[in-house]
Amino acid sequence: MLTDIITAIVAFIPAMAANSLAVIFGGKYPIDGGGKIGGKRILGDGKTWSGLLGGVISATVLGILLSFVSESLYPSGVEGYIIIFSLSLGALLGDICSSFIKRRLGRSRGERTPLVDEYDFVAGALLLTIIVSPTWIMKTYIVDNNWIPLLMILILIPVLHRTTNIIGYRLGMKKEPW
Ligand code: CTP
Ligand code: MG
Repeated sequence: MLTDIITAIVAFIPAMAANSLAVIFGGKYPIDGGGKIGGKRILGDGKTWSGLLGGVISATVLGILLSFVSESLYPSGVEGYIIIFSLSLGALLGDICSSFIKRRLGRSRGERTPLVDEYDFVAGALLLTIIVSPTWIMKTYIVDNNWIPLLMILILIPVLHRTTNIIGYRLGMKKEPW
């Protein structure tokens, strides 16, 4: 049981890493190019190509290294790399979708939106990856019809996310502690 929970969390590292690494690489070339819908930015200056590409590439590399260290996390070879890529890309696509919605609701960049800020990347990573490899998601997060690993992810990941954001904020890498 405990091993299943730990596996579920460790396997999710690419998604968490993509989200944090986007902050480090981010800031250049807004994805919406400054474009607006109804006077409001499409995505805002917090969603950039440098963050998206830098985050996805570095998190995928990190995930592949992780798969060498812990061989049972993902399927071997390309199949596993695709899952790792999907977790990284899905996380940042979820984050982009949530910025799109936040802008439509009139929230400015960086304004805190409880729950949405903590779950956007978790939902994005799980949704894209369930399309890419439903078998892997089922095997890793709903182990033998046991939903606890998935529930643990939903409880623990936002906590870890907040913690890394507070650290990023204290280190001066992030403008807000969320
Ligand atoms: N970032 C980026 N590109 C991305 C995601 C993140 O450049 N695709 C960088 C930006 O510098 C951003 C920071 O990471 O300010 C923190 O990300 P996040 O909290 O998601 O963005 P916010 O600035 O809070 O903007 P939003 O209100 O749209 O969430
Ligand atoms: Mg934010």
